[in-house]
Amino acid sequence: MSSSTNMTKIALVGGEGIGPEVTAQSRRVLDWFATHRRVPMLLREAQYGLVPYLATGKVLPEDTAQAMDEADAILWGATGGPETKEVPAEARKAGGLLSLRSKYDLYANLRPIRATPALSESSPLKARVLKDVDFVIIRELTSGIYFGEPRGIETLADGQRRAFNTEQYTTSQIRRVARAAFELARTRKRKVCSVDKANVLETSIVWREEVTALHEEEFPDLELSHLYVDNAAMQIVRQPSQFDVMVTGNMFGDILSDCAAMVSGSLGMLPSASLGPLDRYGRRKALYEPVHGSAPDIAGKGIANPLGSILSVAMMLRLTLERSEDANLLEKAVDLALFKGARTADIAEAGSQPLSSTEMGDAVLDALDQVAHDAREKA
Ligand code: NAI
Ligand code: MG
Repeated sequence: MSSSTNMTKIALVGGEGIGPEVTAQSRRVLDWFATHRRVPMLLREAQYGLVPYLATGKVLPEDTAQAMDEADAILWGATGGPETKEVPAEARKAGGLLSLRSKYDLYANLRPIRATPALSESSPLKARVLKDVDFVIIRELTSGIYFGEPRGIETLADGQRRAFNTEQYTTSQIRRVARAAFELARTRKRKVCSVDKANVLETSIVWREEVTALHEEEFPDLELSHLYVDNAAMQIVRQPSQFDVMVTGNMFGDILSDCAAMVSGSLGMLPSASLGPLDRYGRRKALYEPVHGSAPDIAGKGIANPLGSILSVAMMLRLTLERSEDANLLEKAVDLALFKGARTADIAEAGSQPLSSTEMGDAVLDALDQVAHDAREKA
């Protein structure tokens, strides 16, 4: 027992559609780090979605809920797809991803935006604009207009319908996500850009004041700037290399991160991390997942790009396991595999022979062997 207490507990929940296919490749990568780099992890695979629903009547069976509750980090695959019609809405909602994010209070959603030179042809942006792009958007994930009350649709006396939502943020909600941004920036290029609409919205006025105050109180060594959201959207396309860490509210982050995603060229490439509050041991619960969904159109064919999931493992190595050297190693290996021409169908050029998910996994493992070997030679 005692030997396992220092192990980081990781739950692997592939879920539905291409989720299990991409997560299987990430599992191989995690096994590589356990074997070759002695990363202390306890891996536990658990089922989610239609399969356990048919067996147990629950999309999130007891065993999976327990694995996720106990885990320091969850590697999530995907949920959703046409087959989910077999699961009544009620049963699905009971164990849905949104309810899990809320259960674990995963308020800080990190989406790294990195331009891989080998993939510049897949991006609609020019190669010179993509040069040196490497930033992270932190989106507040559990509040703002997506959660605010009152909300609803009502019928007015004159027969018109009136729809309304409430944008809201409290001091503590702003400060905790801003703190996550400053702390991340400290490990990077030490720059935070806060995005709001303080020229129009009260929530943004308070947002800007609180971010500024926190900066003065706790992070005066870092550089802080502010942008209005409309300008931020333009700057992301004009010169994305100017950013290091960008922090913003739920809806602005949702929109800006999809816009920024085009830097990488394919949805299948993008990783993410959703972080919860610090516990009394100074650790935080985290859920790592590729940004994409269950991709029902290609599910079961073994052709999904596993790199979004594999790069989510790199985020896990850096943020939960605090193994930044290993995270760098994995990101280098992905770059090397791409540089050598490894392509799944979504990033392949016309006429080329694309790799299967497993073959892309092989390419990353080969590249890991090589970058680890090169690192040892250098040392
Ligand atoms: P999607 O991300 O599943 O697919 C969009 C398009 O991108 C599809 O053409 C798909 O084939 C392609 N694609 C996505 N990931 C890929 C990969 N790794 N490799 C190659 N191609 C890839 O989004 P869509 O179609 O809007 O949603 C499908 C289902 O997924 C829905 O039920 C949705 O609710 C769910 N979903 C779940 C998420 C999650 O579990 N976190 C996130 C987003 C959507
Ligand atoms: Mg979105």
